[in-house]
Amino acid sequence: MAKITYITFDGTVYDIEARNGTTVMENAVRNAVPGIEAECGGACACATCHVYVDEAWVERTGEPQPMEEDMLDFASDVQPNSRLSCQIRVSDALDGLVVRIPASQG
Ligand code: FES
Repeated sequence: MAKITYITFDGTVYDIEARNGTTVMENAVRNAVPGIEAECGGACACATCHVYVDEAWVERTGEPQPMEEDMLDFASDVQPNSRLSCQIRVSDALDGLVVRIPASQG
C-alpha cells in the first residue's frame, strides 16, 4: 500500500490509499479525482491522465518510457516533471507520492 496525494489545479487535496500493482491513474479514477479523464483506459494512448510529479519524487517515479514520451507530446503544458499517471505503478517505494493535476485538465 502507498498513500498518494493528488492536488487539483485549485488546490484541493485528495489523499488516497493505493494498492501495490495498481496505477496512479486507476486510483484517481476510482476515487473520482477531477481532471484525470483517462479516456484510453490506461493504454498510454490519450494523454488525459497527465500529472506533474512533485519534484521530491521525480527520481523515484523514474523516467518515462519512449512510448509515454511520444504520447506526452499531445498533453498541454508539459514540464520536465510531467508523466502519464497510467504509466506509474504503485509500490511501497512510492508511499507518500505527491502529484499535481495540470490546470488545463481542471
Ligand atoms: Fe490514456 Fe494514460 S489513460 S494515456
